[in-house]
Amino acid sequence: MKKINELIEKYNRPGPRYTSYPPVPFWSKTPQKEEWFSHVKHHSHDGVDLYVHIPFCEKLCWYCGCNRTITKDHSVEKHFINLLLKEWEMYQKEFGALQVNSLHLGGGTPTFLSPDNLKYLIESLTNLTSSQFVGSIEVDPRTCTQGHLEVLKELDFKRISLGIQDFDPKVQNAINRIQPVNLVEELVKKIRDFKFESINFDLIYGLPHQRVSSISETIRIVNALSPDLIAFYGFAHLPHKIANQKLISKNTLPTAAQRQELYQLGKKLFLMAGFEDIGMDHFAKPDNYLYQAKVNKRLHRNFMGYTDKKSNVLIGLGPSSISDSGMSFIQNQKDLKAYEQAILNNNLPISLGHTQTTIDLVTQKLILGIMCEDSTTLSPNLPYMNEIEEELKSFVDDGLISLQSNKLELTDLGKVFMRNIAMSFDYHLRDQIMSTRFSQTV
Ligand SMILES: C[S@@+](CC[C@H](N)C(=O)[O-])C[C@H]1O[C@@H](n2cnc3c(N)ncnc32)[C@H](O)[C@@H]1O
Ligand code: SF4
Repeated sequence: MKKINELIEKYNRPGPRYTSYPPVPFWSKTPQKEEWFSHVKHHSHDGVDLYVHIPFCEKLCWYCGCNRTITKDHSVEKHFINLLLKEWEMYQKEFGALQVNSLHLGGGTPTFLSPDNLKYLIESLTNLTSSQFVGSIEVDPRTCTQGHLEVLKELDFKRISLGIQDFDPKVQNAINRIQPVNLVEELVKKIRDFKFESINFDLIYGLPHQRVSSISETIRIVNALSPDLIAFYGFAHLPHKIANQKLISKNTLPTAAQRQELYQLGKKLFLMAGFEDIGMDHFAKPDNYLYQAKVNKRLHRNFMGYTDKKSNVLIGLGPSSISDSGMSFIQNQKDLKAYEQAILNNNLPISLGHTQTTIDLVTQKLILGIMCEDSTTLSPNLPYMNEIEEELKSFVDDGLISLQSNKLELTDLGKVFMRNIAMSFDYHLRDQIMSTRFSQTV
């Protein structure tokens, strides 16, 4: 069997993270308002999950690839909340009061909002909730106050995610995000005093100046603080697309081999500290809801990463938010001004979307199995069946999967390459490769 380094060399190539199928670059056939509403209607009898995007941050982190607007002007809060509520009202007008089974506040920085404004927003969105309602929020430790935690507790939020990234002062300096350990320590203590159900830490590997010794120290501190969940993201470095990343000097970044070393070391240290491997880049304590979702085969993957989805429909409010009706996707305008303009004109702020075909839905199920359950059931008559079979044979030879009749299982080694395994079923990707492989004939 090949060594892991040889396999990394063989399989390391750009590929989708499969937070939707098809991935956004392959979306076509954007549903228009009436069609979108009819799709939502079809699947929303048992309520919906809500994602709400708060784009504001006070200070720019140079690595950041999220949709955000940097400002210190907090007078924008009220007007923005009114836009979100107007967007939500469009759904209420169409469907009457929709039951909200879960609400996730992401960003940008939801704790940019004052505690009072945060309270007003959450209360306005959750008039009708199910008894199983779960509230979760992404928090920047630098802007999260006692007042925010009091509001979140009062409104029965359960899951708090902290943006940590790295504890090394040299790395923090190089990414323009100074966040001392004691600030995080004190916040974690407060969150524990409030008895929230789950604390997640976002960490990134592949940042400038990160090396084995520095990341070992970061992970030692992380393990001592003992969050319930860890998202350990690879730094998505796309300076040609994300202008602020040009502020990071290229020669301070670890090489591809060093990045893998950092990830493998992190993984080893998290497992030794009692975390379980959830799937791509995520680790959870065994009693955490996400690991339980994995064990009980309820784990799902969408634009927020791994989730235990509560509903068949996800409605995303705010700029850049993505919604999923169970048969189609839409993404809102990314630009704050364009989003605002659409809402003020009483339009849904749809910028692009996709209506899934039957073969998209079959492929989605197959890929979700690989990403969430480390196993999947092959369907007959997939497009490119010959090419798929050939690739699967090579995955078996490399010790990445086992195949028994139509059941595919990832080995431990195969989990490192789950994106490559998923890619072999991605017919949109194959269509694209086929169309660029040959030159025009006329
Ligand atoms: C919206 S932020 C989290 C909340 C808050 N804004 C904060 O930073 O504390 C979402 C997460 O995306 C991750 N992230 C942002 N840009 C990234 C990039 N270029 N590559 C990998 N992860 C990134 C970071 O881990 C960040 O915590
Ligand atoms: S990482 Fe978070 S706080 Fe930093 S700029 Fe991005 S969204 Fe804002």
